[in-house]
Amino acid sequence: MREVAVIGIGMTKWGECWQKSLRDLFVEASLRAMDDAGLSQIESLYVGCMSGGLFNGQEHVGPLMADYLGAGPIPAVRVESACASGGVAFRQAYMEVASGMSDIVLAGGVEKMTDVDGSEATYALGTAADQEYESFHGITFPGLYALIAKVYMKKYGITNQDLASVAVKNHAHGVKNPNAQFQRAITVEEVLQSSMVADPLHLLDCSPITDGAAAVILCPMEKAKSLSKKKPVKILGSGHATDSIALHDRKQLEVFASATIAAKKAFSQAKIGIESVNLVEVHDCFSIAEICALESMGFFAPGQAGKAASQGLTALGGKLPVNVSGGLKSKGHPVGATGIAQIIELVEQLRGEAGQRQVANARIGLAQNMGGTAASSVVHILEAC
Ligand code: COA
Repeated sequence: MREVAVIGIGMTKWGECWQKSLRDLFVEASLRAMDDAGLSQIESLYVGCMSGGLFNGQEHVGPLMADYLGAGPIPAVRVESACASGGVAFRQAYMEVASGMSDIVLAGGVEKMTDVDGSEATYALGTAADQEYESFHGITFPGLYALIAKVYMKKYGITNQDLASVAVKNHAHGVKNPNAQFQRAITVEEVLQSSMVADPLHLLDCSPITDGAAAVILCPMEKAKSLSKKKPVKILGSGHATDSIALHDRKQLEVFASATIAAKKAFSQAKIGIESVNLVEVHDCFSIAEICALESMGFFAPGQAGKAASQGLTALGGKLPVNVSGGLKSKGHPVGATGIAQIIELVEQLRGEAGQRQVANARIGLAQNMGGTAASSVVHILEAC
């Protein structure tokens, strides 16, 4: 296998983008990534998109995007793994370059979720849970994560304030991210006073409904310096794993086994220990998800990540900065694009280009993107060159 680098990044502003279509968003992000790399052509394209059909009435998204990008008759594939679609698209592109099949591959993600109303969006998202045993009976993703939160809180005794601290931290980070949907700080009191969505999760514990796209360009490490106008960032490890799609089949709801296994595989390939990681982007679709994902990957002992945000350990400037991009909570969560935007944050940080959000001396970053209630997880470890 060849070593692979990320040499270009680009994303749109995330939020409610009523004036732009699905294809407009994807093409805008992709052209920015190609411009960032200093390239005008790509050999192959992967696009993470969870549900172009239900959100926009558009399937066959791969060729559509290649066509509107003006990329010619290149292979172009839509990748679907629910909210992990972007991360899995990145892994597909990585494997294509690592295998020697192609040299310059674009991995992107897009979702335009505000074309439908809230109940239709909730239905579309709910198709990523187990239809027969979960969604059919009326439970939604906020409901499923609320069950996980209840179990965790009972077991480890954390408070609603601890849970809210995750959202407060990520909103504080999002203030510094010009592409974030919500660039506004919130307080623990505001979280606790916001509408109850699914007990114990309030509106401000939830990631929002978002439109947006993100794209990155990959190439072999040996060509990265000559091809790219910016500092390449090396992909050190990639891991992907799955778990039962329905929660009732899990032994422990608060342990995301797919994240544990994916992280283990990525660390084993990277040949580094967890203590080498300087910053982490995790899939905080709900405040409890950040806590469980961090513990499942081994960044905190069981029960400890629940207090980490309220103790300031995971804030910018803390022991382990987590979701300095603003995370899904504040940056937004256009589901197919989220995994790619996590990679973009790591690349900006490892290049030293993250401005007000810059983590001092960032050398190694990890991104964890997951689908559903962690029925799939994909983990990537990146290193500054
Ligand atoms: N965070 C912060 N603010 C939010 C928000 C969020 N998650 N969701 C909505 N808002 C804001 C809106 O901007 C709006 O503000 P305004 O009145 O100043 O314009 C206000 O709250 C009400 O917005 P609205 O769209 O009416 O909220 P809603 O009640 O329809 O939806 C949720 C709120 C939490 C139910 C919705 O965002 C949701 O379903 N989130 C989860 C998405 C999900 O499951 N993703 C997959 C994860 S696996």
